[in-house]
Amino acid sequence: MRIGLGADHAGCALKAALAARLAAQGHEVVDYGTSDPAISVDYPDFALLVAEAVASGSLDLGVLACGTGIGMAIAANKVPGIRAALVHDVTTARLARLHNGANVVCMGARLLAAPLAFECLDAFLAETFDTRHQRRLDKIAAIEKDRAP
Ligand code: RB5
Repeated sequence: MRIGLGADHAGCALKAALAARLAAQGHEVVDYGTSDPAISVDYPDFALLVAEAVASGSLDLGVLACGTGIGMAIAANKVPGIRAALVHDVTTARLARLHNGANVVCMGARLLAAPLAFECLDAFLAETFDTRHQRRLDKIAAIEKDRAP
């Protein structure tokens, strides 16, 4: 798969580790930054880059990391077509795909140690959407459509 990653200063070390893992697994990895943990940046800037690339179809999936993952999820979900899920264990990672059809996974680098983040990412990628939940995704899409300018 073609997978894009983004992070702020708090998430960039985890992002680098996740990117290396994805590349080793044979995925095509696109790194949208940031890459320097010493320079404070704003997570919405990186969430937007990844979310827009997923929404346009140029990426299959997105991976976002910040301190908690919360800001990344809030920002990414402002882009129409994005279903960004904050995950904190293997179960939430699996269900984000299975039930919610998440196309972006968000993680908190200050909360998840790298081995657990790896497990979450693997679980997210291994799962597929269960179409029994399509009606709910359609309702989410309708909310976006109704509020579009
Ligand atoms: C940055 O200090 C921090 O606020 C950010 O990484 C993230 O946790 C926000 O949700």
